Amino acid sequence: MTDRTPLVAANWKMNGTLATIRPLLAGIMEGVREDCIAEVAICPPFVYLAELSAMLANTEVRLGAQNVSQQASGAFTGEISVAMLRDFACHYVIVGHSERRHIYGESDNDIAEKFAAAVAGDLVPILCVGERLEEREDDATETVIARQLDTVIQHAGIESFRRAVIAYEPVWAIGTGRNASPEQAEEVHEFIRLRLARHDDACAGAVRILYGGSVKADNAENLFSMANVDGGLIGGASLNADDFVSICRATR
Ligand code: 13P
Repeated sequence: MTDRTPLVAANWKMNGTLATIRPLLAGIMEGVREDCIAEVAICPPFVYLAELSAMLANTEVRLGAQNVSQQASGAFTGEISVAMLRDFACHYVIVGHSERRHIYGESDNDIAEKFAAAVAGDLVPILCVGERLEEREDDATETVIARQLDTVIQHAGIESFRRAVIAYEPVWAIGTGRNASPEQAEEVHEFIRLRLARHDDACAGAVRILYGGSVKADNAENLFSMANVDGGLIGGASLNADDFVSICRATR
């Protein structure tokens, strides 16, 4: 049995100001100090990385970014490089969030390049995959997830998943209050693990697969109790310290 330490990561998206994130982070740090076996990570907006980096120094809570450029440097106005994230002690970076895919038009290929750049630069990518509602209704969930994963495997190599996390986020469950049932999540998580196992069994067994999409304090425990659900990527509920701490404590 592989030991996969549960991971609960907060994706704050484009929320907060200095006035609100300081007490939010303080509340989270206070709350996860005890009774929390999960690894905890916070992914704030870029401009708050410096602030959080200072606040999280010498704590167990890890810092992550929400996006990164696939380019190393140069004339790419508005973009942020892997090296810049390293400067602020980022450990994780979210890659391929559905809001990046569907609002900003990032392609499977862009995301594969970002994933490879992150791994090459010693960041741990949290690769998001997930189907839209119409794709689920068309019975295309597995086809979509397979395409999203295979592009990254082809581009970055299966061995790069040794230093990566995957997040299954069904688009229809994000910010809608409608979460996947634990059984629906487990079915896709198992599919993801089997897809990786086609290339490398050990890697597939070791990679952590998080669930994201309307995870709340009252549904987290059931979701996290599934065999292939190794934690969560939390949006809305990570903006309230008590709720987020309850979710962190819901891992076993
Ligand atoms: P919600 O938890 O707000 O549904 O967002 C999930 C998500 O997109 C995390 O990346």
